[in-house]
Amino acid sequence: MSQSEDKTIAEGVMKALGRVIEPDFKKDLVTLGMIEDLIVKDGNVVFTVILTTPACPLKEEIKKACLSALSSVAGIASVDIRMTARTTGGGAREGKAAIDGVKNVIAVSSGKGGVGKSTTAVNLSIALSRLGARVGILDSDVYGPNIPMMLGVSTLPKQINNRWFPPKMHDIPVMSMAFMAPPGAPLIWRGPMLHGIITQFIRDVEWGELDYLVVDMPPGTGDAQLSLAQLVPVTGAVIVTTPQEVALSDSRRGLAMFQKVNVPILGIVENMSSFHCPHCHHETPIFSTGGGEHAAAELKVPFLGRIPIDLAIREAGDSGRPIGLAHPESPLSEAYLKIAGNIASRISILNSEFQPITLGNLAQAT
Ligand SMILES: Nc1ncnc2c1ncn2[C@@H]1O[C@H](COP(=O)(O)OP(=O)(O)O)[C@@H](O)[C@H]1O
Ligand SMILES: [Mg+2]
Repeated sequence: MSQSEDKTIAEGVMKALGRVIEPDFKKDLVTLGMIEDLIVKDGNVVFTVILTTPACPLKEEIKKACLSALSSVAGIASVDIRMTARTTGGGAREGKAAIDGVKNVIAVSSGKGGVGKSTTAVNLSIALSRLGARVGILDSDVYGPNIPMMLGVSTLPKQINNRWFPPKMHDIPVMSMAFMAPPGAPLIWRGPMLHGIITQFIRDVEWGELDYLVVDMPPGTGDAQLSLAQLVPVTGAVIVTTPQEVALSDSRRGLAMFQKVNVPILGIVENMSSFHCPHCHHETPIFSTGGGEHAAAELKVPFLGRIPIDLAIREAGDSGRPIGLAHPESPLSEAYLKIAGNIASRISILNSEFQPITLGNLAQAT
């Protein structure tokens, strides 16, 4: 095949890909700059699709759409599509200093304790990491910092030249309020002290390069939580709730708190949805049903998914081996992967809409 024939095919390929619409961004792949490294040799086509997150739930759909678009291009001998990702970042928002090396910060919060906020934060992190993202966890729950226990972390961070190097578990760096006090000692943080430690977590910790830093927030929506939400450069917040009717008022308070500090809500996760009895296989809605979904619809935020009550989740949390690692193929792990994908794509959409203030668009705005 001649070079000019290959060139004609390459042009046809770009034209065809220019008709493939990315479902989240509602523009075509070529306009979005998602196609790179196109090579055509003797009719064999190779190119790379750059996604905005490795956790993209539409990965397969987009690949299929490309293949089907190319079926109309004449002369193609074979097609090899490589799917990869360059995670987009939210940049510094609202004048808050970004965390070095960290592209996005996800705050996991809840209206009250005991709803499974930390369990969700841990399993979400594992799921994002399984989907190929680089993830870290910051456990900022001053009342019950138990992320190290849930991940089985037994070493402390190392301090070298005023930089903190967090311990890693399953390749996930972990920083926790639990490291800041001897075990068993009551954690009583006064405002300024807390402020100082969180500032250190943001400024002095060597997180490395992360696509997502998941922050386990203290439960509730009081002043301490508000000032934390203000201090941490959060890209978006996830609200965890149980399915009771109170879910709505709890979620509404969460929403109001994050709105006050201009943090977008990524959506609501319903935890402890129903109990599937392993013996009689009966589904029991212990904490009622549908509260999370109802709250999401009422508050006009996305519903990200639900996790049932399952003994395996509690046991995994207690033993320091999260369900995504202990039982990676289980329906529970699948449910967390789905929630992680939903969150990652919400962040990609937010980042595509986010316009940092530059002198250029400031001039336009005024
Ligand atoms: N879906 C679930 N099924 C079974 N147990 C759960 C589930 N979610 C959380 N748990 C358990 O409930 C307890 C409270 O969860 P935790 O994540 O610590 O809540 P929070 O951080 O909101 O206080 C823990 O023992 C945890 O293992
Ligand atoms: Mg907790």
